[in-house]
Amino acid sequence: MADRTFYVTTPIYYVNDAPHIGHGYTTVMGDILTRWHRQRGERVWYLTGVDEHGQKVLRKAEANGVSPQEWVDRLVEDEWKPMLQTIDVANDDFIRTTEARHEAGAQAFWQDLYDRGAVYKGSFSGWYSVSSEEFVGDDDVVDGEGEDEGFKVSALDGSRLEYMTEENYFFRLSEYADRLLALYEEHPEFIQPESSRNEIISFVKRGLKDLSISRSTFDWGIPVPWDREHVMYVWIEALLNYVTAAGYGVDPERFEELWPANVHIVGKDIARFHAVIWPAMLMAAGQPVPHRVFAHGWLLVGGQKMSKSKANGIHPNEIVSTFGSDAYRYYFSRALTFGSDGSISWEDIHARYHAELANGFGNLASRVAAMIGKYFGGALPAAGEQGPAEKALIDTIGAAVSAADAAIERIAPQEAMVEVWRIVDALNGYLTEQAPWKVAKDESQGDRLATILATAAEGLRVLAVVLNPVTPKACASLWESLGAEGPLGPLADQRLDDVARWGQLPAGTPITKVPSLFPRIELPEQDS
Ligand code: ME8
Ligand code: MG
Repeated sequence: MADRTFYVTTPIYYVNDAPHIGHGYTTVMGDILTRWHRQRGERVWYLTGVDEHGQKVLRKAEANGVSPQEWVDRLVEDEWKPMLQTIDVANDDFIRTTEARHEAGAQAFWQDLYDRGAVYKGSFSGWYSVSSEEFVGDDDVVDGEGEDEGFKVSALDGSRLEYMTEENYFFRLSEYADRLLALYEEHPEFIQPESSRNEIISFVKRGLKDLSISRSTFDWGIPVPWDREHVMYVWIEALLNYVTAAGYGVDPERFEELWPANVHIVGKDIARFHAVIWPAMLMAAGQPVPHRVFAHGWLLVGGQKMSKSKANGIHPNEIVSTFGSDAYRYYFSRALTFGSDGSISWEDIHARYHAELANGFGNLASRVAAMIGKYFGGALPAAGEQGPAEKALIDTIGAAVSAADAAIERIAPQEAMVEVWRIVDALNGYLTEQAPWKVAKDESQGDRLATILATAAEGLRVLAVVLNPVTPKACASLWESLGAEGPLGPLADQRLDDVARWGQLPAGTPITKVPSLFPRIELPEQDS
């Protein structure tokens, strides 16, 4: 299926509150992945959005004295959509679960499940977490302590539980354990990383219970098509966004092109929903399951998972207003292993900003442009014969580009950045060793000087392309400084499989000085 689109999704986030950098993290990682694949020349579709129904959102609206629709409309416009600008995300679609396309698609999917006999009516009683909109099995119900004294809480995430007794519709989840285990076995990549895969396999091996999938005590949800007294349980509606946004039930051609998704990127808190319930729903409906679910770790602040309910959330603006969106994007891809928990701090962001972005990358770009300005009047000189230093540099760059590409294939953005920084370090090392400022003093060495600076400029061309998915603003400035658009075309059209081919920037290309790509920043007074 060579001409299928590479389809990537983020979770759709609850609109109970404003976003924090945890949501920004998932969304940026998906963005880096999709920008990289676009730059490979692939057709890509990147979906993100918001989850607007359910009790969590309803209660928050009520507590604020507005209707749930008013609440979500305001937060989506004031907060969730602007976050995408703040962190410079190039999503192709944004789905809201209150949109007609989602409601229609979700109802069609439910009707199909019902018609196929995958759903029955029963009565439910048990523990429910409104905070994670999740039914909690008896094994995970524990007595609360401290503020939760006298309440039951979930061992999964510490959230407070409520006892629920309702007539509900049920999904025959228990029938899918064997097929799910076969899926994990035959497609080890289906749920990644390994730690999540192991957790999911042992969860399913313990046996699955049928799942209550409708609610009748409130109405902030999508009506069950055959029984208007019920609304859909929010998860069994929200997961469907991945297919409703892809045209399920309304646009078969588009659906064929997009589905199944290549990767659902999620946090590990919601891995079970994506790796157990979701594929079972798809199997029940006779639809193909996604290729991969990648469950990343948590951003920890002061050792605790950052969350909206704990009020320890840092808004993406707090980091972007100081360091800029490029640094934000670079930091989260470079400093944390995607798939593991990681702590972040202002000091670490500040340190990496200066060492890696300002001194490593930005400074390199301005030095090379300045020297071509000074010694060659700003016109790229023609390279002479390559010596061993140039050959070694070109080899290093070619190997790093391939290794970075392979890392992105594994969804290991941190490893990709480590590879890209081999290029930065190799170019800085090359300049230090070749010392063009010394060579310039010897008039007989004009050819050698030209070779060194033309080589360095080529190296910068490669960096502009491979870093474009991560730091697009800086790379746009660099592309301009290199005068590359005239001879080579727009930066976004540069192909990663061709980027390491040497000698693409023609001699004579006008090289101009750029304003510093990453200007020095004082650490904000208020820190962590
Ligand atoms: O679960 N570190 O929405 P949600 C890293 N609506 N990532 C974090 C994080 C942290 N501390 N906190 C949140 C829901 N995230 C459902 C999803 S999908 C069909 C429905 C990110 O608002 C991470 O991606 O609680 C996590 O899985 C997601 O936000 C949960 O967002
Ligand atoms: Mg949550």
